[in-house]
Amino acid sequence: MKKNSKIVVANWKMSPASYGVAKKLFDDVRKETRRASARIVICPPLLFARELMHSYSGSKISFGAQNVSEEEDGPFTGEMGARMLKEAGLSFVIVGHSERKAKGETDEMINKKILRTLAAGLSPVLCIGEKERDRTGRFLAVLSGQLSAALRGVEKKDVRKLIIAYEPVFAIGKGASDALPPREIEETAIFIRKRLVEAYGREVGLHVPVLYGGSVEPENGREIIEEGGVDGYLVGHASLSAHDFAALVSYAS
Ligand code: PGA
Repeated sequence: MKKNSKIVVANWKMSPASYGVAKKLFDDVRKETRRASARIVICPPLLFARELMHSYSGSKISFGAQNVSEEEDGPFTGEMGARMLKEAGLSFVIVGHSERKAKGETDEMINKKILRTLAAGLSPVLCIGEKERDRTGRFLAVLSGQLSAALRGVEKKDVRKLIIAYEPVFAIGKGASDALPPREIEETAIFIRKRLVEAYGREVGLHVPVLYGGSVEPENGREIIEEGGVDGYLVGHASLSAHDFAALVSYAS
């Protein structure tokens, strides 16, 4: 992943409720971000992704899935394989989101999903994040453990396709005042980069974009990008407003 431009990932989760609304949101985002230089990745509900992609001929916006199966193919009801996502034209997959972990996704499953995603030629957006922060810094061991478990067996050459989204679980889905303060985001981003450098060397480790996610809104987006030392954001609820999302993309541009 090239590090020269910032990356803004929209995680629409299970919204909007209809394709019509999704198409309008997408068209508005496209118009309002026309002049932006940040790289935009939209992860709509999968059912809408293909049609949205077909309606779009530009190159600034890429598309991603919000999840992928850890299995390759076969009798796995309700699952979607990485190769299918690739064939449909997607480029990114969010892996290990805390809302999937809350539904039982384990470190081992996340690791398999990362390996499948990379093998299919897609870029994983690996989410890591602590459930709580303690003053003694034990949460850093949690992050470190999540990183090494998720990346077990990932080769150096594939790390170039990786994006890390640091999302402290307690900050997800709230309001701007609940996001982590920029100084703590910066310290954590440095810690994550250090771990990546230890595992893969400077050249590769420092190449991996580290995003912040968790209640990024227009109110706090500017300070997060200016003082948080991150390469972009993973945006949930604020990505469902074209206006708010475009404001975030403009801060990152
Ligand atoms: P939020 O979600 O921006 O609504 O906090 C972020 C995420 O869950 O990826």
